[in-house]
Amino acid sequence: MSEDSNNKLYICRAARCRKNGSDRVVEVLEKVLKTKIDLANPTDMIQLESVLCMGQCAYGPNVKTSTKIYTGVENQILKRILVVMKSKLSSENKLS
Ligand code: FES
Repeated sequence: MSEDSNNKLYICRAARCRKNGSDRVVEVLEKVLKTKIDLANPTDMIQLESVLCMGQCAYGPNVKTSTKIYTGVENQILKRILVVMKSKLSSENKLS
């Protein structure tokens, strides 16, 4: 995993999380954010990055922000994560 940053959303793409649906999580996020995982996002502040295991394998699919690991991620949790991330990024931009 590269350096943590408030604009990065890490998605576990190791075998157990993939078996539990992380490919669907990536598909949803790419569609909502109009980007591709592991590529610079030209249309949104949030960057998607792959990671291989967060040590929470039994609870996947898992995603991680700079401050928290979310387990058993489904669409409602994704929506909440994106709202929180965008709110924090917006606040940071207003302060700078
Ligand atoms: S496989 Fe995803 S946390 Fe280990």
